[in-house]
Amino acid sequence: MDFDSLIDRKDTYSLKWQKYAGKDILPMWVADTEFKCAQPIIDAIKSRSDHGIFGYHLPSNFAPANQAVQGWLKRQHDWDIDPDWLVWTPGVVPAFNMACKAYCEPGDKVILQTPNYPPLLAAPKINGLERVDVPTLRIDDRWTLDFDAFELAAKDPKCKIFIVCNPMNPVGSVFSQEELDKVASICRENDVLLISDEIHCDLVMDEDAVHLPAGKQSALKDHSVTLMAASKTFNIAGLGTSFAIIPDPQLRAKFNKAGMGIMPWVTILGLVATQTAFTECDEWYGSLLTYLRGNRQYLYEQINKLEGYELLLPQATFLAWIDASGLGVKLPQTYCEEKGVGPSPGADFGNDQFIRINYGCPRYYLEETIKRLSV
Ligand SMILES: Cc1ncc(COP(=O)(O)O)c(C=O)c1O
Repeated sequence: MDFDSLIDRKDTYSLKWQKYAGKDILPMWVADTEFKCAQPIIDAIKSRSDHGIFGYHLPSNFAPANQAVQGWLKRQHDWDIDPDWLVWTPGVVPAFNMACKAYCEPGDKVILQTPNYPPLLAAPKINGLERVDVPTLRIDDRWTLDFDAFELAAKDPKCKIFIVCNPMNPVGSVFSQEELDKVASICRENDVLLISDEIHCDLVMDEDAVHLPAGKQSALKDHSVTLMAASKTFNIAGLGTSFAIIPDPQLRAKFNKAGMGIMPWVTILGLVATQTAFTECDEWYGSLLTYLRGNRQYLYEQINKLEGYELLLPQATFLAWIDASGLGVKLPQTYCEEKGVGPSPGADFGNDQFIRINYGCPRYYLEETIKRLSV
């Protein structure tokens, strides 16, 4: 468990590192971390590889992985699920696009909070649907959904689904019970189905915040699709493995039907990695949270000391949504790149006066980021 060392990824075709190849710009964008994954995961992948045969595996029959998810959700989120509710998907992005196909007809509308993760913003159009944006409000130094705007949008009978990202990327907030109850009642009253992207749910930084899975709420059990993965927490996104939890059999059947013939089964190595992450890596996970909490605090304190930047303390994720409008430059993204720092451009999420910095990296790397931005 060494989170302090930077592992060279330059020649690994890493998306994050390729963008600035050959340039002296620190890649602080794509949401994977610089941390080597837990040893038990590496060992499990090696051991499965040594077997040498990589034939077909029906994920729903791969009992150890299904039980691992069941056990993890119970331990981490006090959520009792039936393994039958699980649908394995080769990524959360394909899963929310599948949801668009499953629950909407051409001409229907999809509600999305803005700013948001770019592939979420893109999903309605890809599926021939109209996107209805609901803003994010700043209340008491925390970002949250504009509930009035959400309620208004939900009243349109053409709005069939609300794809929410909770914990929110990029703003880092976690819905409170009161907020999720409000979402649930607005969804139910207006017959809007909740598709909940919870890929960041095991990365809650705020010791007082609790992640509340959508499908665990009694009001949402038969009115939601919850999307999760071990990928962000355990840094295994390249293995393309995630899962949907859909307690309602009819909603599950529609979801499965939408993927028929186009959605591949998840890979055997992805199943093995997820199973191991959820059963043998608790100590690594605890250390990761401690390290990331330290990074969050460091970045929060230091970036707010610099003129022109403002960061509200994110409750979750390893992503920091930073208001750089105070710099008074046309494009903060370009300004940062010229200083040798490569965040995610705020424009991709819906606001070009912001940047998003990924703090899932060794501390000294974050220190170097601050150093570069301060000159
Ligand atoms: C909110 C959110 N959903 C989904 C994804 C990607 O999911 P996947 O790699 O499983 O398709 C990301 C990655 O950054 C994300 O932040």
